[in-house]
Amino acid sequence: SSARTGRYKRAAAEAAVDRFLLPGMRVGLGTGSTAAFAVRRLATLRGQGHLLDVLGVPTSRATQALALELGIPLTTLEEHPELDVTIDGADEVAPDLSVIKGGGGALLREKIVAQASRRVVIVADVAKLSPKLGTHWPVPVEVLSFGWRSQLRFLESLGARVTPRKGANDAPFLTDQGNLVLDCAFGPLDAPSTLAERLGARAGIVGHGLFLGIATDLMVAGPGGVEHRVR
Ligand code: A5P
Repeated sequence: SSARTGRYKRAAAEAAVDRFLLPGMRVGLGTGSTAAFAVRRLATLRGQGHLLDVLGVPTSRATQALALELGIPLTTLEEHPELDVTIDGADEVAPDLSVIKGGGGALLREKIVAQASRRVVIVADVAKLSPKLGTHWPVPVEVLSFGWRSQLRFLESLGARVTPRKGANDAPFLTDQGNLVLDCAFGPLDAPSTLAERLGARAGIVGHGLFLGIATDLMVAGPGGVEHRVR
């Protein structure tokens, strides 16, 4: 049920905050419902007098708004280009801790913040685990609106069924950067790194949701409790 999923998301996120956040750290704050539990946990600990000198870097406007509402002090990658740890959710997690992200549309900032972090902790419920990326979730691809139909054709030529993401009122979904997202269903990916290279080499594609070799830790929660896995 979604109530159970919510409990697992919360358990994983809170365990990650309790285990990985230390005083003085610069911390990437992820996006989505699981990461929001981590932001709330940090606020709760601050309310108890802990981690008061921790500074957060939000991965989206939504997370920035939540952190501000909860009184968590924020900084930027301009001021702190190297972060100690990022805690973020994922849409699909493979056994080697490669993940698909971007269901919430924040994939580009999430990847920038993750790659600026010494440690990247993915928080997830067991339903996100998958033998192969692409089995349960499309790969979100962020493209400039200039030439976007050419990118759609290109992605189809790579074997994807492509759906332009819609936002409110059937209008195109726009990322925090004002770009479009093309959700690309490839099915189970045998060679995600080859796909990532092709996407990375294409002008007009500004980001994609394949996070390969980025996550260092996974906190995954299910009926048996929370499990910590390392890459
Ligand atoms: C945001 O762009 C995504 O990468 C999220 O981290 C991902 O969609 C997970 O979301 P939930 O925690 O809400 O499942």
